[in-house]
Amino acid sequence: MVKIAPSILAADFTRLGEEIKEVEAAGADYIHIDIMDGRFVPNISVGSLVVEAIRRCTSLPLDVHLMIYEPERYIRNFIKAGADIITIHPEATFHLHRVIYDIKNGGRRAGVALNPSSELSLVNYVVDEIDLLLIMSVNPGFGGQEFINGMIKKIRDAREMVDRKGLSVELEVDGGIKLGNAGSVARAGADILVSGTGIFGTDNYRETIRRMRDEAFSVEA
Ligand code: DX5
Ligand code: ZN
Repeated sequence: MVKIAPSILAADFTRLGEEIKEVEAAGADYIHIDIMDGRFVPNISVGSLVVEAIRRCTSLPLDVHLMIYEPERYIRNFIKAGADIITIHPEATFHLHRVIYDIKNGGRRAGVALNPSSELSLVNYVVDEIDLLLIMSVNPGFGGQEFINGMIKKIRDAREMVDRKGLSVELEVDGGIKLGNAGSVARAGADILVSGTGIFGTDNYRETIRRMRDEAFSVEA
């Protein structure tokens, strides 16, 4: 069964707590939180203070996506704030392996995210050490962008790599996922679908999440 991770970037920040409770009640599996530094990506979002606040209003796992340079400087903050999964970009650090261990030694699940143009081979020597592999299907920095269709092949290749190595790494896809393409992303091999505007931009979160799962399920059959 595919997991659904609503990205709060598209939520109404004036009522963030309620929005999170609503997607939790609607059947979300993870809460995806996008952290942007205005350098690694051309946008600034929120920091660990907001993660800490979200921790107090849901029991769902917090899936924290760090789009920041030198993530090693901030891992402790996000662990302290209550992140369950911390995902970093190899394009943003010289010390990917070390940062993965900073996360794991802190008792949290470690993820690695790849920009659309980044080779899958960047994770070759760490994929057996991580819990989650995130394939970006838009250029990171903003919600509401168009899914890059060429990423379907990359998702398939990532699935093949994880299966060939016999790993239990969760394969997550992030960017431009909504009703209409959720099925093809799941069919390509995704375990977790991140969706921001695809969920928060709709009126009935429960119905949207249910239909996303249906799409994913109908292609899995
Ligand atoms: C993009 C972020 C995504 C984004 C997804 O930089 O990593 O998580 O919020 O938003 P949608 O689903 O609207 O593309
Ligand atoms: Zn994200």
